[in-house]
Amino acid sequence: MHFHRQIIIDELKKFEWKSLLEVGTGWGKNIEMIRENFPNTELHGCDKDSYPKSSLCDIKLLPFKDDGYDAVLVDAVLMYIDKPELAIKEVKRVAKKIIIICDQKISRLKDYLPSDVKMIKIEGWGGDWDKDGYIIIWKK
Ligand SMILES: C[S@@+](CC[C@H](N)C(=O)[O-])C[C@H]1O[C@@H](n2cnc3c(N)ncnc32)[C@H](O)[C@@H]1O
Repeated sequence: MHFHRQIIIDELKKFEWKSLLEVGTGWGKNIEMIRENFPNTELHGCDKDSYPKSSLCDIKLLPFKDDGYDAVLVDAVLMYIDKPELAIKEVKRVAKKIIIICDQKISRLKDYLPSDVKMIKIEGWGGDWDKDGYIIIWKK
């Protein structure tokens, strides 16, 4: 399991939350690990492509209600999105308490994030991740 997933778990332990949405799950490694660590929570994953344990969604137009999940996780997705500000706006709308964004190019997102987010550097992954890769913990 990649170390950044453990950082996500450790950060989630610092908050009170009961429901979490991951947008862009891929094969669902994060959801699997979160389920093991937080068995009594409501977890949902969605992705633009079809995966066995996810529903379909587009991060720029999420099919979920305002404040629908206590926490929203977006791991290695925004770097593929044109106009990431539209995606961030949607994630903010759906998240009630906590937003966790893991991304390779945080400088591209900074203008759309509050200035007081916690930033955890991702090191040792190589390439662009080492230059500008961070995990963002955004408390709404
Ligand atoms: C690099 S994978 C990351 C998967 C997973 N979050 C992880 O950490 O293992 C990026 C994922 O984002 C999804 N994705 C890309 N654009 C998306 C969009 N507009 N809406 C939702 N998911 C998207 C892709 O289909 C892919 O599964």
